[in-house]
Amino acid sequence: MRTGLLKHSNYMEFLRSVPSFKTLTEVVLSKVADVLEEMHYSDGDYIIRQGATGDTFFIISDGQVRVTQQNTANEEPAFLSTLSRGDWFGEQALKGEDVRTANVTAIGDVTCLVVDRESFKQLIGGLDNMSNKMYESEEVKAKLEAEDAFFSS
Ligand code: CMP
Repeated sequence: MRTGLLKHSNYMEFLRSVPSFKTLTEVVLSKVADVLEEMHYSDGDYIIRQGATGDTFFIISDGQVRVTQQNTANEEPAFLSTLSRGDWFGEQALKGEDVRTANVTAIGDVTCLVVDRESFKQLIGGLDNMSNKMYESEEVKAKLEAEDAFFSS
């Protein structure tokens, strides 16, 4: 379905405000606005489940989400981060392996603009902060902190 003119211009205005997209041209942003799907979630909804396969990239246009990760099967998922309007997620499964690395759940009402794998690859995936984005696991972080403490003592 073609995006209506008013919606399209609202999406453009929002996309221009996303810090990570500041190097994207108007032409590219306009193509993103054409292909995205607006999705709505309620409190507690799973937007992404760790371990599932996935082909979509999400930009939060309203509300907040919680990112959690389970390291071993019988352990509760550990809190990693809270993301809000203008933040994005879901890029990890779109580079190389298509498995989701974490859970993402809605905190209250959430609206996301969702981009499919092919459009992501063509329009957004080339940005440095997307293709190089790495998250330190809690394990790696703990190790680095222990090393820091060792070398500074
Ligand atoms: P993906 O693996 O596709 O799906 C889960 C998403 O959660 C992942 O992409 C990242 O966008 C996001 N994510 C993973 N780890 C973290 C983290 N430590 N902090 C914030 N977001 C994360």
